[in-house]
This record gives sequence, C-alpha cells and structure tokens, in this order.
Amino acid sequence: MQVESTPSVVREIVRTARRDRAVVGVVPTMGALHAGHVSLIERARTECDFVVATIFVNPTQFGPNEDFSKYPRTMEQDLEMCKNADADLVFTPDTSQMYTADAETVVKVTQLTSRLEGAVRPTHFDGVTTVVAKLFNITDPDKAFFGQKDFQQQLVIRRMVADLDWGIEIVTCPIVREADGLAMSSRNRYLSAEERQRSLVLSQSLQLGKKLALETAATPAEIERQMQDLILATDGVVLDYAVVLSADSLLPLQNRPDSAVALVAARLGATRLIDNQILQFR
Ligand code: PAF
Repeated sequence: MQVESTPSVVREIVRTARRDRAVVGVVPTMGALHAGHVSLIERARTECDFVVATIFVNPTQFGPNEDFSKYPRTMEQDLEMCKNADADLVFTPDTSQMYTADAETVVKVTQLTSRLEGAVRPTHFDGVTTVVAKLFNITDPDKAFFGQKDFQQQLVIRRMVADLDWGIEIVTCPIVREADGLAMSSRNRYLSAEERQRSLVLSQSLQLGKKLALETAATPAEIERQMQDLILATDGVVLDYAVVLSADSLLPLQNRPDSAVALVAARLGATRLIDNQILQFR
C-alpha cells in the first residue's frame, strides 16, 4: 500500500493504474477510521481494481463553533486499517496541499442542502461538496463509496455528480452498528458512559419508525411524532430533528408511500449524533 500526500503524485499514480484499464474506486474519509469506514474500503475492493482511500480532516466543512480542532486524528491506526482492508493507495494531504491561500472557488448544491443538516450547519455542505469535488478531480475515480449514515451527504454528492455530468458511480454502503444498535461514528468516542447509554434512543426511535411503517397504518407524520416523543422522553438528549421524508428528495410526504427514510439528529452534551433508517410501508 502506498501513502502519498501530494495531489500531483496521486494523480500520476492513478493515471498509471488507469493505463492498465483498472477500475478505480475512491473512499473519501476524515480519518479516525472505524468498522464503518473499513466496510467502505472492503466494498470498494470487491468492485474495483485500484482502491484509493483519502484521509483529510477538511476544515471548510466545520462551522466556527464545531469540533475541527479536537476532531480525532489517529493517522497511524488509520493507515494500519487501510492496509488490512487492502487499499492500494492512501491520499493524506495537509490543508495547504488542498487549499491554497488564494483559493476562491466553492462547489454548491443549492436546495438539497438547505434543510436538516444544512439548516443546523449552514456552511457544512459547501465544504463537503467542494472538498469531494477536489478529491474526485485528484483521484479520478470510476466509483466513489460513501456511508448511508450521512444520508443527506450521499444525496448531495449524488446531486453534484449528476449536475456536473461527472461519470462517477456513487455507491452508498449500509450503516455499520455497534452490537447494541448505535451507528458507528468517529464522534462516538466523545460520549461519556452515561451519554453512550442515552444515545441508544436514536437507533431505538428508528426501529420504532420501521415497525410502525411495516406493521400499522400510521402516516409519516404520525410516525415522526412517536419517534420524537420517544427521544424527548430521554433525559440529557436534545432533539434536533426526527423526521420521515422522501428518500430521494428529503421532501415531506403527504400520504403513506411505499418507502421513505427516517432521519434523526440529537445532541448529547457537546456531541451531536445523526442516524437514519429506510422505512418500508406495508
Ligand atoms: O463523510 C466524511 O467523512 C466527509 O464529509 C467527507 C465525505 C470525507 C468529506 O470531507
């Protein structure tokens, strides 16, 4: 496995792989890798000849009061995990290699980013789309692999790729959970033991939503209400949203659809967690 931090070197390595007709896959990450990230690299390994993982804690997607400076940086362990998952190349740029002082271009998806995470974190998605566009340009992939846990993010990236006529296939991989249901996240390590216990209400609310959709005649609005009630009844969990929306557009649903996505976000102390679940209606 090669490890490179210079964009032009990475571009050249990928160009060489492409000359041998390799299908190139990229797995963009911010490091602090866990089993969820490993599942993305493993999936890329099964679908691609040449697998690039990227590790870059992207400053432009953090708001002024967010956790950029304390975001976990565990490069040595991360590289070990990439190697074990059989990545061919890991791109580990630093901030000056990704953003020159005179950079002034932003890639913006305008509508899909205005709600949910975008409403709570107004500059977040501009940072994500800009850095992912740059990572796509540097690594020139055929396929890119993202986790379903960041449901809105994968939709936003799909929108960007479609709107900019990028011939990149976006592959969304299933959420990987701890044994008790908590969705894996690099931010879970911030939780105290008590917060960790309380955080289970997020996945429990999604399980409730799944059951109500499948086994009752509840409408999306009724399901939302029951999910919200469950979360609001848990001390120490501050609910941002618990909603049931169209999985394609994240727009509200009037009647009972065939399927939808339930999304939740909540804060436990200083830690903000998100999770989601596809719902099938009976
Ligand atoms: O999902 C993440 O870890 C980040 O938002 C991404 C896609 C690597 C962009 O920095």
